[in-house]
Amino acid sequence: MARSYLLIVFGIFGLLLQVQCSQYDNHTLIRLYPWNLDQLHSAAKFEDPAGEVEILKVSRGVNDSLDVLVPPNKVQFVRDYADSKGLHYEVKQQNYGRTLEDTPDRLPRRRVLSSFNIFRYNSFANMQEFIEVAAKKNPSLVQLQDLGKSFQGRRMKLVKISSRPAAGNPIIFIDAGIHAREWVAPAMALYLVHRLTSDPEALKAGGPLDGVDWYILPLVNPDGYEFTRSSRNNRMWRKTRSKHQGSQCLGVDGNRNYGFKWAVSGVSNDPCHKETFAGPQPFSEPETQMVRNIMMDNSKRIKLYVSLHSYGQYLVYPWGYTGDILPQEWKKLDDMARAVSSAVQQAGGSPFKVMSAGKWYPAAGGSDDFAFGAAGVPYSYTMELTDGFEFTFPESRLSTVLPQFYEGFKMFGSRIRNEFGRLRKKRDVAEV
Ligand code: ARG
Ligand code: ZN
Repeated sequence: MARSYLLIVFGIFGLLLQVQCSQYDNHTLIRLYPWNLDQLHSAAKFEDPAGEVEILKVSRGVNDSLDVLVPPNKVQFVRDYADSKGLHYEVKQQNYGRTLEDTPDRLPRRRVLSSFNIFRYNSFANMQEFIEVAAKKNPSLVQLQDLGKSFQGRRMKLVKISSRPAAGNPIIFIDAGIHAREWVAPAMALYLVHRLTSDPEALKAGGPLDGVDWYILPLVNPDGYEFTRSSRNNRMWRKTRSKHQGSQCLGVDGNRNYGFKWAVSGVSNDPCHKETFAGPQPFSEPETQMVRNIMMDNSKRIKLYVSLHSYGQYLVYPWGYTGDILPQEWKKLDDMARAVSSAVQQAGGSPFKVMSAGKWYPAAGGSDDFAFGAAGVPYSYTMELTDGFEFTFPESRLSTVLPQFYEGFKMFGSRIRNEFGRLRKKRDVAEV
């Protein structure tokens, strides 16, 4: 009796969700390819004065695409722009919103671990449960640090994985999901937690936990993430969900909110800008404050910081705020990135495009620049995972790509151990 009642209620609810349509339903995805420097210049300057065309990805150079999402009334405008500049373009997908994968897990799942799957896009609640259980199962290996609450009150926890927490090992700090719609990023961060805590290889000599500690914050922007899961209409949200005095529009681009060279390039000052509003001031968001605090509290020991994003298969390093200068140490940053890219490629994955973030496109207030420039972290990267599916990387392919990316992280681990682990080993010998 109660069961069939529930079935009816959920059935109706499901129908309501299905008939709801997305604001992107009639949009077209257009991909523009610059083939020479002139065209590259035109692609970089592309702008829709009315702001209705959404730029999903900018081009990093000749032959790398500029992807734009175009409402029906603007398709001709984009075609005309491309034609007038001689830019080659492809109409990739019409009715873009209708082809978005159905948001999985729309109805709250029972909060039991069996509904969690490492190769799925999990709810924030299920992610939390996963890390809690990982910590309970491996108390000597995993510690959770309570960081505080997101704007909407979600509890954020840092996962600390260490085979010798008292040894003062170099730390690799990884975060993911500052941008709400980039679902593959938190999935990767969680997969790291999974492998580091359950793969016996991880603890072996020369494995990623030998002499290196891993701090992982799997979802920096849980409010935004849950918003993108709430309906197809919200799937493309990027920012946080904070409220600001004097504006009806919600949210800040967390990756323009860090207090290093704040707002000097690549940002919007308009709270209603859907993509790159830098916030009313640096670190206006509780979520970016938490990441900052992790960096500052552990600044002596963090030797590598990686912020996970999607998409485009880029691995970029400072500076991000400008493309005019590189850090003195850029060659070391570049070398490590190329080693990681090769490791992923050896595992069957695609290589990364490696360069400074600012040479791709300048944007200030990113976490990578803050880690490198303000917290003194010697190796700092933004990693844009996957290519070819924009922000809706198919869930069914996670089991292929996450293990490939993991090989890249093992390379990060061994590089960090080789460069920073030696002192520790001497001290260990003295201790015993
Ligand atoms: N797609 C990332 C963003 O727009 C790239 C960030 C690279 N780092 C930087 N400091 N610009 O936020
Ligand atoms: Zn991003």
